[in-house]
Amino acid sequence: MLRKAAADPALLARAPTDAIVQAQERPVLAILTIDDDLQLFRGNRQNFADLLKTGEDQGFLAYVATVRHLKLDAPRVQGFTYNAAKDVWIKSWFPRPTIVYNRIPQREDERLPWVRKKLARIASQPDMALFNRRFFNKWSLFKWLSAYKSTRGYVPETKRLTEQRVLSGMLKRHPLVYLKPVRGKAGVGIMTVKLSPEKNLPYRLQVQDEKGSSTYHCATIGRLWTRVRANAPSESEPYIAQRGIPLAKVNGRPFDLRALVQKNAEGVWELTGIGARMAGMSSITTHVPRGGSIEDPERLLVAVFGQEKAQQVFANARHAVLTLASRIERASRSRMFEMSMDLGVDEQGNLWFFEANSKPMKFDEPHIRKKSLERIFQYGHYLHRRRQQERR
Ligand SMILES: Nc1ncnc2c1ncn2[C@@H]1O[C@H](COP(=O)(O)OP(=O)(O)O)[C@@H](O)[C@H]1O
Ligand SMILES: [Mg+2]
Repeated sequence: MLRKAAADPALLARAPTDAIVQAQERPVLAILTIDDDLQLFRGNRQNFADLLKTGEDQGFLAYVATVRHLKLDAPRVQGFTYNAAKDVWIKSWFPRPTIVYNRIPQREDERLPWVRKKLARIASQPDMALFNRRFFNKWSLFKWLSAYKSTRGYVPETKRLTEQRVLSGMLKRHPLVYLKPVRGKAGVGIMTVKLSPEKNLPYRLQVQDEKGSSTYHCATIGRLWTRVRANAPSESEPYIAQRGIPLAKVNGRPFDLRALVQKNAEGVWELTGIGARMAGMSSITTHVPRGGSIEDPERLLVAVFGQEKAQQVFANARHAVLTLASRIERASRSRMFEMSMDLGVDEQGNLWFFEANSKPMKFDEPHIRKKSLERIFQYGHYLHRRRQQERR
């Protein structure tokens, strides 16, 4: 088992500084995260340990570096590696990275001015490539994708939820509307509004919370708006209102597709894998911590659409995610290397883009997981080779 914290100085064996010498021509990758007073650095330690191991197998020198310790004007960097046999994190000196893989886990940390400044400086270093520049937000993603003909058809109608009028407008056009924080994740803060005009309490608001979801019935749009405001985590949290897509269901439970797209050893976007998540009984989202379950996407699609149409929907999804990824990258004006995507499939088999995440969570499907780790370094090799050719 991995220890969660390694603040105890006894756990910090010192390694010799000649790791630097050994590294010479090996590509060097630093997993970037944020410092933590109690446990040295934040982030999923198991994920970092897996990354370091894969990096080593793929001929990389890899270590964990923190934003504070990655000094850009110094020839070497203080970082950490993991010793699995002893289950300790070892502090040591390393050469400057050629690739910085941003895994700062929380948006709040990434938005701190000194962190943003450091990320901007890393991005502008001529000898470094920064993977995963920053988190996405759902409003920018919508704007970006609706600007291209090739992706416009995948995004559900979306508005910024700035006032009551926006919500009433959306409800005139769509019987189900999703309200989502633009910087949300894991379902936190998501609400749905369903309008049934024939009922005397026509507005049904459902709010995702820790335990499951709570439901409110409101008589007027004014009451509904007050409820929505009261349930948003904070006044300052911007929200979007999005057309609710009637998702395909199996045994009464809706599901969506989770794709991981990464660049491959030729520097081209490629699908690493597609999984599926099925909603829990009382949930308005499909997240596993909220009772959702991991499923085989092809099996679910066959159950809904039959063999032939399922094949077609799956092929469309495989194609769509690549187009979506390349447009997101182009619109964001920064080089990207990987992203995960949540896609909905409606009852007719049409595909809908819900969001993309620039810091994908670990995929639990072992075949996707293994490939996802390897791709990071395969693309890393590609970049490294290109750099060396440019230098010649
Ligand atoms: N417009 C929508 N229509 C139907 N279901 C949606 C819609 N938006 C989100 N969902 C459901 O809620 C889940 C979470 O939404 P998502 O946009 O991915 O937010 P989060 O960042 O919290 O994961 C989706 O995976 C999907 O199951
Ligand atoms: Mg999501």
